[in-house]
Amino acid sequence: MGRIITWGMGMPRGMDDTVMNGMMPDKGQEGGDGGHPGDMDLKAVLDRVSAGIMALDGTGRVTLVNEAMGRILGLVRDAVVGREIDETPLPARVRVMAKEALGGREVEEELELSNPPGTMVHLKAAPLGVEMGGGNPAVVILEDITARRRVEMIRRDFVANISHELRTPVANVTALVDALSHGAIGEPELVERFLKDLERETRRLSQLVEDLLILSRLESEEIAPQMEEVRIKQVVEEVLSDKEKLARRYEVNLRRGPTEGILLRADRRFLTVALSNLVDNAVKYNRQGGLVTVEACRRGGEVRISVTDTGIGIPRDQLSRVFERFYRVDKARSRESGGTGLGLSIVKHVMELHGGRVEVESEPGAGSTFTLVFRASSL
Ligand SMILES: Nc1ncnc2c1ncn2[C@@H]1O[C@H](COP(=O)(O)OP(=O)(O)OP(=O)(O)O)[C@@H](O)[C@H]1O
Ligand SMILES: [Mg+2]
Repeated sequence: MGRIITWGMGMPRGMDDTVMNGMMPDKGQEGGDGGHPGDMDLKAVLDRVSAGIMALDGTGRVTLVNEAMGRILGLVRDAVVGREIDETPLPARVRVMAKEALGGREVEEELELSNPPGTMVHLKAAPLGVEMGGGNPAVVILEDITARRRVEMIRRDFVANISHELRTPVANVTALVDALSHGAIGEPELVERFLKDLERETRRLSQLVEDLLILSRLESEEIAPQMEEVRIKQVVEEVLSDKEKLARRYEVNLRRGPTEGILLRADRRFLTVALSNLVDNAVKYNRQGGLVTVEACRRGGEVRISVTDTGIGIPRDQLSRVFERFYRVDKARSRESGGTGLGLSIVKHVMELHGGRVEVESEPGAGSTFTLVFRASSL
């Protein structure tokens, strides 16, 4: 993972001599009690910088550690300041790089820290280019890039997952068209069957594209929900009527539970999308002759819209994972019903957009209840 770039002598970007000289008080002491008043100000300023900064004098002693440096490395500043670099509890690689800088070389590297575990940092160590106390003072700058790296990884996974999900229906469409153009077109029963299959595959493709568009809109920062007063009963009615055909196909009964005439401030379109995804799951992961009930109530200053099914349920250890994109408990069953594992991540995003949350309770073999919970401020 390590990568060393040698830039030769010079100041790190974004730091000028004034700042550096201020960080290195005359007698090699950390600015503080009894120090120059300017040093105090500089410390306060550096403590507000999000990057970790550590200064060393020409003898290799740490003279300053800002607040971020201690936080990122999980260290108490007092354990580092005033000590020789090799006597500090800093990670070995940080010490080595600091010594490179003291020796006049500027080095840069990305590191994964073992403590705190999983933390990724970008580390830069540079000599200050001034002689002081018979040696070359140096500065070490540390940036926590854990979140950035995680986002990059999620993006990469996302693209890989989409490609994977697209591959099957696209391959099926290609094969069906191929079969039709190679003779099957002359056989009416085959044509009928293949066209049905083609319809199913293209429906799956367009559903996938639709879900991806909704997700990307929900995730883009620009989107502002169009809040309006929504009568829950109406949204429930709209969603359940829309799912009647699906419910018949799965031989599942839809029940309209009480909604107490509740009015909610919400984005009507997104609320409909969320509820529709929950009812879709409640039908598809149900059993023959099963029941889906949608109801709403006010409780403790919250509005709760719940979808209860009598279906297969979800194992306890997978309850939180079902909200991840592309996650499916039973891949074969979900794919059979045209699912790609995006529905519940859409639901989660919709609820985040409303400042609410989604709850789930489930009993394998008995059924599940998913509840959209809106805070009192949404009322
Ligand atoms: N009511 C439910 N009962 C049992 N399992 C469920 C239920 N809802 C969701 N799941 C499980 O959670 C997984 C993720 O659900 P999600 O709605 O995100 O995706 P999907 O239904 O597979 O596909 P999509 O909704 O994108 O068409 C499902 O594949 C299923 O395994
Ligand atoms: Mg679903």
